[in-house]
Amino acid sequence: MSSIDKLATGREKYTLDYPELGTGPVSYEDSISEEFFEAEREAIFKRTWLKVGRIEQLPRNGTFFTRELKGLGSIVISRHTDGKVYALHNICAHRGNKVVWQEHPAEESKGSARQFQCKYHGWRYGLDGKCSYVTKRDQFFDSLPDELAMPQLQCEVFAGFIFVNFSADAPPLREFLGEKLVRELECWPYEKFTNHWSFRTYVKGNWKIGIDALLEWYHPAYVHGRFLDVDVNQAEKLVPPMDSYHYDLFTPHMLTSVPGPPPLKKKQGSVGPPERSEDWIYKLFRAGLFGPDDLRDDLGYLTPERNPGEVRYWSNDQYWLFPNLSIQLWGRGYVITYQYIPDSVGGHNYEVDIYFPEPKTASERLAQEVVVDSTIEFAMQDTNTVEASYSALANRALQQFHLSDMELMIRQFHHVVRQAVAAHRAGNDK
Ligand code: FES
Ligand SMILES: [Fe+2]
Repeated sequence: MSSIDKLATGREKYTLDYPELGTGPVSYEDSISEEFFEAEREAIFKRTWLKVGRIEQLPRNGTFFTRELKGLGSIVISRHTDGKVYALHNICAHRGNKVVWQEHPAEESKGSARQFQCKYHGWRYGLDGKCSYVTKRDQFFDSLPDELAMPQLQCEVFAGFIFVNFSADAPPLREFLGEKLVRELECWPYEKFTNHWSFRTYVKGNWKIGIDALLEWYHPAYVHGRFLDVDVNQAEKLVPPMDSYHYDLFTPHMLTSVPGPPPLKKKQGSVGPPERSEDWIYKLFRAGLFGPDDLRDDLGYLTPERNPGEVRYWSNDQYWLFPNLSIQLWGRGYVITYQYIPDSVGGHNYEVDIYFPEPKTASERLAQEVVVDSTIEFAMQDTNTVEASYSALANRALQQFHLSDMELMIRQFHHVVRQAVAAHRAGNDK
């Protein structure tokens, strides 16, 4: 029996625990319909909490950064002199010019400022958005209100992640996340994970198809097979069996906990002559897709809240925060977030952020780089499949698709999206 086979628990099918999901074929119309995408924007993106950054991006009072969220708007995230974090619509109260930008108005920017000044006619704003100075004030009329501002959006910080909500009457962020998610995510010491690596790309495919690629463990032997083992039969044997994972679909969010290989044992001496093999690189740098092999013992990150499903050989907990964010907490001491920001039915910005502690030695730094490089390589392999699937789905030659038990989170995710859109259409969304 291989070590992977030993992970099997003999558990029966998971999807059957969620009878509302059914087991029949599903339609992917929700991922190719322009009309559904417009409804999704109204029902979900304009009224759900969306992560826009990390608190480390605002290191001091007076710092700011902008986000260009196509179809939703340009926003400024700022840390005011009172230390409070604000999210502002990036629009001037005079004639609607975009206030904060540097070289090009369509590009995101960041910096520090005591106030923002509109480039058009010079109106000035505090970092809380309140207009502090109107140039040539005496040329205006009595109708000019005293309280002029770049309008504020709801903005909250949770576990160092900055979230905004475009709806003024959305429930507070913690209420939306729910007690379980707050408890399990908040106990991680994010403040120690300041060595940040990021990767951005634009994917020509629906944002949900992008997410689907990370919601199941059916594909790795085939999409990533050559990375695991050139012989697909061998690669199949390297992916843990379905019943070794943990799933918790606490609507609208989800968790999957993932098993992984044990760290490499410390070996004295050489790893042998160079080989064109990932294994050799992993051995040389003592790191791979599942993290560095030499664990730091000074972080205190393995809190009792980790691995709630008691997965054997646990590797990481992957939380999915509705609608478009995954926060993955890895036992070998790092955090990855994946986010999918659509700009149309057929395109999204794909953002991967990886957070390590500051390395203490050169070898620790190199190990981190191997983990980052492996993670991004796998992410790009997934992306090819996302573009290939979206382009094939679009002509509707087939309209019903078949999801295995391994794909239950995909079934759930599309179900929750469709329900949110249906509730909004029915006018009874909360
Ligand atoms: S549009 Fe901003 S000052 Fe005129
Ligand atoms: Fe993948």
